[in-house]
Order: sequence, then structure tokens, then C-alpha cells
Amino acid sequence: MAEYQTITLERRGSVAVITINRPDKLNALNQQVHKDGVAALDELRQDETVRVVILTGAGEKAFIAGADISEFADQTPVTQRDLFNQRTLFNTIDTFPKPVIAMINGFCLGGGNELALACDIRIGSETARFSQPEINLGIMCGGGGTQRLARLIGEGRAMELCLTGDMIDAPTAHKFGLLNHVFPADQLEAETLRIAAKIAEKAPIALQLTKEAVKFASKSNLDEGLRREVDLFALCFSTEDKTEGVAAFLEKRKPEFKGR
Ligand code: COA
Repeated sequence: MAEYQTITLERRGSVAVITINRPDKLNALNQQVHKDGVAALDELRQDETVRVVILTGAGEKAFIAGADISEFADQTPVTQRDLFNQRTLFNTIDTFPKPVIAMINGFCLGGGNELALACDIRIGSETARFSQPEINLGIMCGGGGTQRLARLIGEGRAMELCLTGDMIDAPTAHKFGLLNHVFPADQLEAETLRIAAKIAEKAPIALQLTKEAVKFASKSNLDEGLRREVDLFALCFSTEDKTEGVAAFLEKRKPEFKGR
């Protein structure tokens, strides 16, 4: 198993938990976090026993407090652009074939919020706080903040958050649709694992195709999206899991999906 410098990777049955582990820097995203995170996802991509991934931050204070600002000083426009065009956690999670859940346990700022936005589901503690504070540094979002946030919570709300850099609390993030669920801090992990385990019982190929189809909704017009959906739906009919799912229903038993 690979060794990682800035993250930990733990398997809990069919759910894997990636924890960004720089609590003294509030889990700020430096280049090594991207490298380790992408390598961990590559490991989990190959691991048939893992069906759902949870991404979180170490400690009680932060999920991720943004990009590591100390790395900004030496960046030029060319190196910065090049970095974002490589494999990052943002684009790797976006196209990862298994569902990824952000478990947000504190500050979720800048690149941290952009990473949460790249995930498929966001679950937060009551103490979580959210912002896109790049504007306070004289820059703007670069990890998808203006695009994914506007699509998820609407242009007006995203515009205000990105223009002001204001922080919002978890109930507000929930009301905006940024968070799927909010739980008391001491229940966050158990509740997130419960939701992950529920998803992990489903047929893996159908999960992968569903993620692809839902993500396509924000990239296409309705006709293109409906065509893509029917193609992916048809693809499900080539799987053993479809045969098992239908048989289990008719035989009034629980299906056992194998990812084939
Ligand atoms: N990049 C690099 N280091 C960061 C960081 C970031 N985004 N966010 C926090 N840290 C570091 C701090 O420099 C500090 O390190 P130090 O102990 O070596 O000085 C440590 O994490 C703890 O942060 P601190 O600021 O002391 O905690 P706080 O409770 O007073 O404030 C925040 C918490 C989140 C409000 C504050 O850290 C902050 O504003 N961070 C930057 C957020 C940001 O602008 N992110 C977007 C970047 S594009």
C-alpha cells in the first residue's frame, strides 16, 4: 500500500475515507496534497472492494482552509495555469468513477469549498463555515468556484459570496443547497458513514453511470442530456447486476451486486 505524506487513507468495509492531514495549517491544499490525493484516488479506483469514498479534513477546526497561500508567493501566471491544467484533486474527483462524499467538519474555504463542490454530496457539521475568500487576497476563484457554485446554488448567491468573500454558516449553506445535510458535530462521522454505506450497497456500474449522467446535466442542454441518459440507462442492461437486481425484486429478496 502506498505511503502518503499529507493524507491518510482508511478503509471501512466498502467505504474508504481520505483525510487531509495538515491540521496545523488547517489542512490547506498545497501541491503535495493534490499529489497524494490523486494517488490515493488512483489506488481506490482499482480497488473493487471500495464502492464509495469520503473526503474529510483532520482535526475539529477545518475541513480545508483553502489553497496553501504560502505557495502563492512564488507562482507566476504560467506555473499557476500549468498546475491547474495537470491532474488535480478537483478534476480527478469530478471524473472519479465512484461517488465521493465531502464530510465537512469546520472551515470550508476557498479551494476547500471548491473541492467540496467537486464532490458528489456534501454533508456538514453544525459548526462548518463556508466562504470563497479569494477576493480578499486580490485574486479570484480558480478551482471551479465561480462555475460549480453558480450551478449549485444559483448565480445571485454565488456572485455575492465570490464578490464579498463573506463567510456563511452551516444552516445557511444547507438552505442554499450547498450542503445536502447538516448534523451535530459529534454525529457527523456516523451519519456520513451511514449515508455512504447505503450508497455502497447499490450496483457499482449503475452508480458510476448515474454520477456521469447527473454531472452531464450541467454541461449540456436538455435534449443532449436526455439522449446521454437513455444511452447510459441502456448500458445498464448489459450488466450482471441488472439481472441480479431484477431477479432479487421478483424473488422478494435483497440483491447482491458484484459490479459486473
Ligand atoms: N494557507 C496557508 N496556511 C494557512 C491557510 C491557508 N489557506 N489557512 C490557515 N493557515 C495556517 C495559518 O497560517 C496558521 O499557521 P501558523 O500557525 O504557522 O501561523 C495556521 O494555519 C492556523 O491558522 P490561523 O489563521 O492561526 O487560525 P485562526 O483560527 O486565527 O483563523 C482562518 C482561521 C480560517 C479564518 C484563517 O486561517 C484564514 O483566514 N485562512 C486563510 C483562508 C483563505 O483565505 N483561504 C483561501 C485561500 S485562496
